Amino acid sequence: MTYTLTTPLYYVNDKPHLGSAYTTLACDALARFQRLKGEQVLFITGCDEHGQKIQRTAEAAGLSPQAHCDGVSAQYRALWDRWQISNDRLIRTTDGRHRQIVEQFFARVEASGDILEGRQQGWYCVACEEFKDDPHEAQDPECPIHRKPLEWRDEVNLFFRLSRYQQQIEDLIARPGFIQPASRRNEVENFVKQGLRDFSISRVNLPWGIPVPGHEGHTFYVWFDALLGYITALLEDGDAADLETALSRGWPASVHVIGKDILRFHAVYWPAMLLSAGLPLPAKVFGHGFLTREGQKMGKSLGNVLDPETLLERCGRDAVRWYLLRDIPFGEDGDFQQQRFSDLVNNDLANTIGNLLNRTSSMARRWFDECVPPVTAAKRLDHVLAQAASTARFSALAALEQLDFRTAAEAALQLAISANGFLNDQAPWSQMKQEGTREQVADDLYAVLEAARIVALLMAPLLPDLSGRMLAQLGQPIPDSGVTATGSSDWLQHLEWGGLAEGMALPEPSPVMARLELEEPL
Ligand code: MSP
Repeated sequence: MTYTLTTPLYYVNDKPHLGSAYTTLACDALARFQRLKGEQVLFITGCDEHGQKIQRTAEAAGLSPQAHCDGVSAQYRALWDRWQISNDRLIRTTDGRHRQIVEQFFARVEASGDILEGRQQGWYCVACEEFKDDPHEAQDPECPIHRKPLEWRDEVNLFFRLSRYQQQIEDLIARPGFIQPASRRNEVENFVKQGLRDFSISRVNLPWGIPVPGHEGHTFYVWFDALLGYITALLEDGDAADLETALSRGWPASVHVIGKDILRFHAVYWPAMLLSAGLPLPAKVFGHGFLTREGQKMGKSLGNVLDPETLLERCGRDAVRWYLLRDIPFGEDGDFQQQRFSDLVNNDLANTIGNLLNRTSSMARRWFDECVPPVTAAKRLDHVLAQAASTARFSALAALEQLDFRTAAEAALQLAISANGFLNDQAPWSQMKQEGTREQVADDLYAVLEAARIVALLMAPLLPDLSGRMLAQLGQPIPDSGVTATGSSDWLQHLEWGGLAEGMALPEPSPVMARLELEEPL
């Protein structure tokens, strides 16, 4: 079984910002965790390139829509490369094969009798590419997310018979674990309870889209087209554009990770489309919160974004990943605050974790021939740090299964805090000055080095760079959690206490994490 996970397919109306990077970074941690456990992973991300929003942006820039999309999607690709995102696919909805997948899928839905012609009237947000529920008589309504005026639409479209799937969708969203976090289920339940209405899946007079076969003048509504990108993305290089082939490569998805604003599309419209086409449903939809800045959703349309390029350049991958994964409960909103960002990075990574490793390995090298010291009692599973490691391991693994990156990060950090406490209590620097304590010092240093090894391994899905530097400092192999991972892994075994070999040479230490000194605002 393949573990297929997806980010949303990002609109290419502008270059990527930290909000879009957030989902991708979290998915990267999840993909790495699954690979480390030995799963065969298919991590999908991509770009959503059709629709009115993109067409208008391209027009405003004086470019053809295709040239505009080529430019922005190249920026996404480059950014994910620089962030070392381990995506297996980057689908673009303008890919040639995608059009054929959409056509084949539509043929199934049409054959199910779920396509009708109808008149669509309502208020539309182009930035959301979505009809809003504002009443027809509303005066100058605006989108609460984008703070932009809604546009009145009245046209004959093709409709998808969503209403037919009322019961099945109710059953689906009642299924424990389908919508996560559970707190998000309510809002979808309320929406569904009001009665599902058919929704339009085509547009007229919108050339920048995939033409609907057999319905001249209609192009597919961008969401109908984009959701299917998850399936096109399954195709391997060299595969023909065939729906069955695509599905055989890793469908159904294990999880769609998305922002809370697009939960309805993923938990209601998309499953109904799949039911209509007779295809299996994704196992889980996880709706995370918004990153805010000064309390406002960070977004391209609002212009209050943090540039992920600047962050990367000035702060590095580890720092940003740590802040986003460790400080913001995944599922809730989080406000980006620069001071807190640098405080956490410096306290947790540079001081608690980095210094722990550095000073312990320096002491071990100085007093025990540049090697891991000989161990006696510290190998035992009832050693205080063995117990702390076992607690951390249990908590981190359970949390990662739930996409609770914060608890996982805290578990690793807590182990480092315990190891620092142990070191300070044992004070090997004083003990070394006394007679007959060499064996005790060796044992204590072994225990702390072993705890640091486990901290490093627990960090592997979250902060693969820092984890790699720590493991290298401990002379340990670095597990492959990236796209080249083979589907077998001994990470779980290595997380067991006592894996560090006594007498093994310790490389010369150098700081594994630089402090963040941010004088200017980001
Ligand atoms: N193109 C659609 C998704 C189609 S999926 C088949 C879309 N694109 S988007 O670029 O506007 O947004 C993509 C994701 O980024 C959404 O899940 C959205 O919530 C997320 N984010 C955009 N701004 C965000 C923040 N400020 N904070 C966190 N996530 C944010 O919607």
